[in-house]
Amino acid sequence: MPVIPAYDKMRYRRCGRSGVELPLLSLGLWHNFGSVDPFEESRAMIRRAFELGITHFDLANNYGPEPGSAEETFGKVLARDLAGHRDELVISTKAGWRMWPGPYGDGGSRKYMLASLDQSLRRMGLDYVDIFYHHRPAPDTPLEESMTALADAVKQGKALYVGISAYDADETRAAAAMLRSLGTRCFVHQPKYSMFVRDIEPRLLSTLGDEGIGCVVFSPLAQGLLTDRYLRGIPADSRAAKAHGALRPEEITAERVTQLGHLNDIAKSRGQSLAQLALAWVLRDSRVTSAIIGASRVAQVEDSVAALDRLEISPDDLGRIETVLGGTPGA
Ligand SMILES: NC(=O)c1ccc[n+]([C@@H]2O[C@H](COP(=O)([O-])OP(=O)(O)OC[C@H]3O[C@@H](n4cnc5c(N)ncnc54)[C@H](OP(=O)(O)O)[C@@H]3O)[C@@H](O)[C@H]2O)c1
Repeated sequence: MPVIPAYDKMRYRRCGRSGVELPLLSLGLWHNFGSVDPFEESRAMIRRAFELGITHFDLANNYGPEPGSAEETFGKVLARDLAGHRDELVISTKAGWRMWPGPYGDGGSRKYMLASLDQSLRRMGLDYVDIFYHHRPAPDTPLEESMTALADAVKQGKALYVGISAYDADETRAAAAMLRSLGTRCFVHQPKYSMFVRDIEPRLLSTLGDEGIGCVVFSPLAQGLLTDRYLRGIPADSRAAKAHGALRPEEITAERVTQLGHLNDIAKSRGQSLAQLALAWVLRDSRVTSAIIGASRVAQVEDSVAALDRLEISPDDLGRIETVLGGTPGA
């Protein structure tokens, strides 16, 4: 069956001072799209996301497990279902975490980053990605080397735009200036942001606003915590129950569950799921271009996209949320 995107169901926001708009929700393939996961479910989630107007898909060299296999899954779905839609998609990948053994499979060297990009393109069957990110700062590598690798990826036609992830405010200013001096703009930053992780609020958000860099936030649901998944224990099919899941059971403390219960009550009083409230909350600041959601099934993609039906949060509800979050680590 062909996939027909319903662009009128999605809303789009401009990515910094660029010509590109991104959907308020993007789909990330970190978990649930690897070779260990059922291909047909991964395929159905990608297809449904695009049908709902999600035009931005976020990958990285190491997503799986096996590392690399999420890019292979995406490449297969692209070829089977979305081949005619390449120009309607913004596809990103990254290099920066350990990908292959030895001294050239990790970090921020030109050697690693450009070889990794070539591998990513092969796995996805693409000539170019829309966004190539440096996945994290590499303190042992001169910034100039990593930024030159990004700028050269653009010059070689292998990436249209470049971005950085997990860089702090000062590192971001330095990276943006370096990229400018190399004739390339820093298009986007990808930081972690949710009700439970708010490090970007004091400085990074205003830095991105000043620099005209887009802000595409990851783990807006705190890997599934900010949903109804863990209100009554740890479900067997959840990320926290999987050996390779990045959410660890010990993070689901009794205090956390109590807090989640209160947030869930606020969501219910608004006629929303907790996931929908958590997404509306990260999108309340217009400097946040898009929130990259993860999902393990089609129904979650649908539930998350329905957050767009009620994005506004009254000052009263924002106050109630702050009261619940008071004392949150990192708040
Ligand atoms: N730049 C970086 O360093 C970096 C780091 C991490 C992630 N990312 C990007 O951000 C993306 C998203 O990260 P994430 O997967 O941690 O995001 P998330 O949206 O915070 O968590 C996704 C998980 O929440 C649960 N979920 C999602 N929607 C739900 C709903 N409507 N109702 C109930 N539960 C729901 C699912 O858990 P279950 O699987 O348990 O069902 C899902 O796997 C990644 O795929 C990746 O693209 C980037």
